[in-house]
Amino acid sequence: MAFISLEGIDGAGKTTHLEWLADYLRARGVVATVTREPGGTELGEALRALLLNRSMQVDTEALLMFAARSEHIAQVIRPALERGEWVISDRYSDASFAYQCGGRGIAEARVQTLETWVQQGLQPDLTLLFDVEVPVAQQRVRNHVSLDRFEQEQADFFERVRTMYLRRAQQFPQRFRVVRTDRSLTAIREEIAGFVERLLIST
Ligand code: TMP
Repeated sequence: MAFISLEGIDGAGKTTHLEWLADYLRARGVVATVTREPGGTELGEALRALLLNRSMQVDTEALLMFAARSEHIAQVIRPALERGEWVISDRYSDASFAYQCGGRGIAEARVQTLETWVQQGLQPDLTLLFDVEVPVAQQRVRNHVSLDRFEQEQADFFERVRTMYLRRAQQFPQRFRVVRTDRSLTAIREEIAGFVERLLIST
């Protein structure tokens, strides 16, 4: 079993690769649970609807992200890993550092405290950080029919989110792999396949 998280600023392209990655792993005989944050449970999806649509204090936002994550870990992630399955999560706690600390300005020590409390050391084995310049990502997001509360943020917000993601990739080189998405789909998929092959060999 292994735990993979997918991260990146809105419009970086991660969701495009999520189902492909799950299919790729299933073709290799892996039982994969695909899930997302905020969400992944009934309560988590209810919290997601609030988080994406209702205005709130930045601290409330951070706390609700971790409340949803707490349910997600207890109900989905840990049970799947204990069954020996792989878990692929569309976002996990790096998103809280990137968005709530980088984007909103919450002190990292606070999110660190929540992470320790809620996750008790549970970190992904592999984090794929989908990365592209902010104007390119924003152009992709503008094609969406309606924009949620995060997608409506301005370029400077996403610059800070991206900077924090890239900083974390440098800070945790063991589990982070940066995937540039300003390339062909084939090139991106080949690179992702290479990263997960290494994980398949080591598990
Ligand atoms: P999604 O668009 O990738 O589904 O994610 C929903 C939004 O939630 C996205 O704009 C990033 C944001 N988010 C946070 O701000 N903090 C978090 O901890 C997570 C998991 C997501």
